Amino acid sequence: MTLPPDLDPQKIPQHIAMIMDGNGRWATSRGLPRIAGHRQGAKTLKQLLRCCKDWGIKALTAYAFSTENWQRPIEEVDFLMHLFERLLRRELAQMHQEGVRISFIGDLSALPPSLQTEIEHSMTETVNNQAIHFTIAVNYGSRSEITRACRQVAELVAQGQISAGEVNENIVEQHLYTADTPAPDLLIRTSGEMRLSNFLLWQMAYTEMYFTEIFWPDFDTEALHQALLSYQKRDRRFGQVKTLLSA
Ligand code: IPE
Ligand code: IPE
Ligand code: MG
Repeated sequence: MTLPPDLDPQKIPQHIAMIMDGNGRWATSRGLPRIAGHRQGAKTLKQLLRCCKDWGIKALTAYAFSTENWQRPIEEVDFLMHLFERLLRRELAQMHQEGVRISFIGDLSALPPSLQTEIEHSMTETVNNQAIHFTIAVNYGSRSEITRACRQVAELVAQGQISAGEVNENIVEQHLYTADTPAPDLLIRTSGEMRLSNFLLWQMAYTEMYFTEIFWPDFDTEALHQALLSYQKRDRRFGQVKTLLSA
């Protein structure tokens, strides 16, 4: 799939984060059970991953299950866990062939053991792939991630490896799940909700945000095109004044 001509290849975001929201409402509005929305949402993700790769986006991070999502009905949680496992089994070979590097972030230790096995396998198998870095956030919560980082840094201080005064942003960042990955340039959230829902709070300090009413299962490549057009119009100042060139 080639880049639409109205997009500037020089201004393609390196890293897109996505809050894939609205699966349930997509299904309900069609008189279907919520899980039908999750199934369709998975197809959407697969298509978008390929599109991002083709358009030169180097990293995609997708929010698949939050630490709060355990509070949903047990049937829905079970369905999602099985869906993740099934998808990994079914899609891994092709993703690997297409050069996708797969990572997972979140507290994976709380996931069903058979899912953990698939996750580990997919990460080791694809670790050297270069085409696109695809990160899936499962049992992920930003507050829990930052708390965990604090705990690890506190241990370094307690062991005398660093002093309290030496703790800086860089050290904290190195203890996040996303250590060594650049922050997202663009966040997309579907389904009309305008909140972060505990996603990448630290990492998105300077991320451009794009919200759309479209439910996740309907978010197609044309919808991504629109999000990128909006992104390319933004002036990312990072707290500075306008660059001299554009002044
Ligand atoms: C997002 O869709 C997928 C997950 C959170 C797993 P939802 O399931 O939140 O769909 P809505 O928001 O209820 O429509
Ligand atoms: C955020 O969506 C989590 C994922 C997309 C996985 P939610 O549907 O759980 O968020 P809230 O409850 O609307 O904030
Ligand atoms: Mg939702």
